[in-house]
Amino acid sequence: MAETTLKHFKTGSDILSGECLPSDKSPEILSLRPEQLYEYVGQREIIETLKIAVEAAQMREETLDHVLFHGPPGLGKTTLAHIIANEMRKNITVTSGPAIEKGGDLLGILTHLGEGDILFIDEIHRTPKAVEELLYSAMEDFAVDFIFDKGVHARSHRYRLKTFSLVGATTRVGLLSSPLRDRFGIFRSLDFYNDDDLVKITTRSAKLLSVRIDSEGARELAIRSRGTPRIVNRLLKRVRDYAQVKSDGVITRDVVRAALSLEGVDEQGLTSLDRRYLKTIIDYYAGGPVGIEAISATLQEETDTLVDVVEPYLLKIGFVMRTSTGRKTTEAARKHLAVLEAECV
Ligand SMILES: Nc1ncnc2c1ncn2[C@@H]1O[C@H](COP(=O)(O)OP(=O)(O)O)[C@@H](O)[C@H]1O
Ligand SMILES: [Mg+2]
Repeated sequence: MAETTLKHFKTGSDILSGECLPSDKSPEILSLRPEQLYEYVGQREIIETLKIAVEAAQMREETLDHVLFHGPPGLGKTTLAHIIANEMRKNITVTSGPAIEKGGDLLGILTHLGEGDILFIDEIHRTPKAVEELLYSAMEDFAVDFIFDKGVHARSHRYRLKTFSLVGATTRVGLLSSPLRDRFGIFRSLDFYNDDDLVKITTRSAKLLSVRIDSEGARELAIRSRGTPRIVNRLLKRVRDYAQVKSDGVITRDVVRAALSLEGVDEQGLTSLDRRYLKTIIDYYAGGPVGIEAISATLQEETDTLVDVVEPYLLKIGFVMRTSTGRKTTEAARKHLAVLEAECV
């Protein structure tokens, strides 16, 4: 019943997932990445903090403090890490928590860093424990004690490192151990972007891609992008194709509406997964409260996807509440789904 009433929305579409997909790494999309602080739209307080920190480090000819960024996927954490390296005029080495499997892997990376370089560790909350422990002294003393062999043959060697800045990114700061968290001098959370900032990002990206878009079209696309720049860029490419094939190439509000309803994006920018999540709580659990494990089992979706990708935006727009006994949908969510169902009839 739920699936048929919402049938004009495709299911399983990834277009609105904040998560990074292979298509997000195409040269065209990568060219949209701001490279300097002044080009970065929104997150003003974070930008101000970084400007001051970068300037102070340069004046003192010191290495920048270690920086930790927290926030849902697609909001600009990786972009900021690259911007920091550009502003500091240093090289950046990019890796991720799960990619550093052993202490030796980390040692290899650290010993190749130049003075003042940036080491970016994405998904830092997924760093194996043994590697994380080596990071503590690397971050604090710029040295690591590495143990070779085991048992009676074990010997330890202290490696001195050049000073470097670690930039960490995480979608789940709660999973980070406090010794690791405490070693970052700068810790900032990125929030979803407001509509005005998203309009600016849409307009900027359209210009870089030489796409013609009017101001109403830009606003419509912005409000349907789940507060997320990565989604703006993705939708813009889809809508551009639609405008070229079905109209005169100019992106207007009507073009955005028509193109996005084909993609399963509703007026609030919600995806089919968002709607299935809400409907599960409403239909199966009487609106909640219900635990995330139960929702994930009913939906047959990974808990991590729900917690990292789906829930942050639904919490932000007040469609879901998290209570001590579980998740609850709100009246606003029920109204939104009711309107969609009414439109289908
Ligand atoms: N403030 C911004 N202004 C313009 N574009 C942005 C901004 N933040 C992010 N983007 C765009 O969104 C995309 C996703 O950003 P990214 O840094 O990869 O997100 P995250 O690492 O948080 O998942 C980037 O390719 C970039 O083009
Ligand atoms: Mg990233």
